[in-house]
Amino acid sequence: MVDAALARLFSLEGKVALVTGASRGIGAALAEGLAGAGARVVGVARSPVPRDAFRQPVRYVAADVAVGLDALVAEIVAEHGRIDVLVNAAGVSVSASSDQALAAFDATLDVNLRAAYAACLAAAPHMTSGGSIINVTSINSLVGFPGNPGYVAAKGGLRLLTKALAVDLGPRDIRVNALAPGYIRTDMTAASFADPERHAARARHTCLGRWGEVGDLIGAAIFLASDASRYMTGQDLVIDGGWTAKGLT
Ligand SMILES: NC(=O)c1ccc[n+]([C@@H]2O[C@H](COP(=O)([O-])OP(=O)(O)OC[C@H]3O[C@@H](n4cnc5c(N)ncnc54)[C@H](OP(=O)(O)O)[C@@H]3O)[C@@H](O)[C@H]2O)c1
Repeated sequence: MVDAALARLFSLEGKVALVTGASRGIGAALAEGLAGAGARVVGVARSPVPRDAFRQPVRYVAADVAVGLDALVAEIVAEHGRIDVLVNAAGVSVSASSDQALAAFDATLDVNLRAAYAACLAAAPHMTSGGSIINVTSINSLVGFPGNPGYVAAKGGLRLLTKALAVDLGPRDIRVNALAPGYIRTDMTAASFADPERHAARARHTCLGRWGEVGDLIGAAIFLASDASRYMTGQDLVIDGGWTAKGLT
């Protein structure tokens, strides 16, 4: 039998959550996970409809985070009175030939960093009962990876934006943390997942010997969104199967 006080600690009952990047992959899984823990969840991405039906009640809205979420935030506040949780999971990985390198860099920073900041600016004034912002960064925010400097720069920037906002928003009881996944099987990583050599190399680099699944991140997101993490802000929660803990592969 689960202790009732302990269950309350991890419950999101009555909380209002906005999750970006919710049409598929990590954002969709986190939207479902927060809804399963009791939150009223609004998920947003550009696709007209999410790729798969949600197994938990999530209201899905089509919008581009790079254009801005002010109208959606106003709509949520009109309906629910406030926002308690913001998850910035929308992201792109734009690889490019060298003549397109700067354009790819700009496009990546626009969605992965600037739009995440814009979402924080839109939501934070409505976190009137305190709040939790979860920025989905990456192990790319902690160490360098080849071939996609814009992605590494954006995630590194998002990591320190998380700390800057934790400082600024802490006095309003708004916590801001980074959830940093390792290699997770989604559309974004489909090519390396399908390539036997790259697949094996990424699995070997973890301590657990396998890729992550989107479901592996749900517990961490519920923890960061809930009172269970109420004294935690400005931190990285790294969910990478031990990738960044390991030296020799
Ligand atoms: N997969 C991994 O191994 C991994 C590891 C570390 C971090 N991450 C991060 O986790 C997040 C989710 O990635 P994923 O692996 O789930 O990738 P994914 O399957 O490609 O999903 C990306 C999500 O972001 C949305 N999105 C992209 N641009 C958007 C925009 N301008 N406005 C609104 N939504 C937008 C996409 O929806 P639409 O196309 O419908 O707009 C989709 O829902 C990203 O921030 C990614 O950088 C992933």
